[in-house]
Amino acid sequence: MFISFEGLDGCGKTTQVELLEAYLETKEIEFVATREPGGTVLGEQLREIVLHGDKISPWAEVAIFAAARAELVEEVVEPALERGAIVISDRFVDSSLVYQGVARGLGIEEVLQLNLHTTKGLLPDRTFLLLVDEKLSEARVGEERDRMERESAAFRRQVEIGYRQLAEMFPERIVVLDGTQPRELIARQVRQALEDAGQL
Ligand SMILES: Nc1ncnc2c1ncn2[C@@H]1O[C@H](COP(=O)(O)OP(=O)(O)O)[C@@H](O)[C@H]1O
Ligand SMILES: [Mg+2]
Repeated sequence: MFISFEGLDGCGKTTQVELLEAYLETKEIEFVATREPGGTVLGEQLREIVLHGDKISPWAEVAIFAAARAELVEEVVEPALERGAIVISDRFVDSSLVYQGVARGLGIEEVLQLNLHTTKGLLPDRTFLLLVDEKLSEARVGEERDRMERESAAFRRQVEIGYRQLAEMFPERIVVLDGTQPRELIARQVRQALEDAGQL
């Protein structure tokens, strides 16, 4: 089972990954948690470039995220899935579709095509999309911001619109949750959706 969490900065992805990890630990279910970009030696180096480097042209940005993702699939995701572990990723391909495909205007389909090659067609089985508006996102993101987090309110709005569009494109895979609810309530909804899918 491959699970990803998506949504604007500050929507609660990392919080929910941690709550799910804690739950799986109590159940003694094997899992591997990772984050994007990163999760491998090469991926963390690319993370540094893409989140903390200077200006990057749009397709170069797509390619860097895709390279980090290719490495993650090869080194972490595939081996874990092969031995039957649950994989939880804090962001995955949908982030590229929305941030680069929609907000940077490169096209969802175009960015998806490139990504499907690099990930060998792998998509999450379930994606939890935590919806918050750009104002709450802005308020929850702290003072220290990376290159993506420094983007404008208009950019965030595009991202939010893009995520809603994706949820309509992939209704079976993407579970939309209200990210403004209390964190424990969201965690219960995540567990319920996984139980309903026969995964817990
Ligand atoms: N459901 C929630 N309600 C209120 N605050 C939350 C909730 N989920 C997360 N937060 C807080 O919002 C901030 C961003 O959460 P985080 O999980 O780091 O988001 P992300 O990983 O999506 O950027 C943190 O300070 C976190 O404690
Ligand atoms: Mg986070």
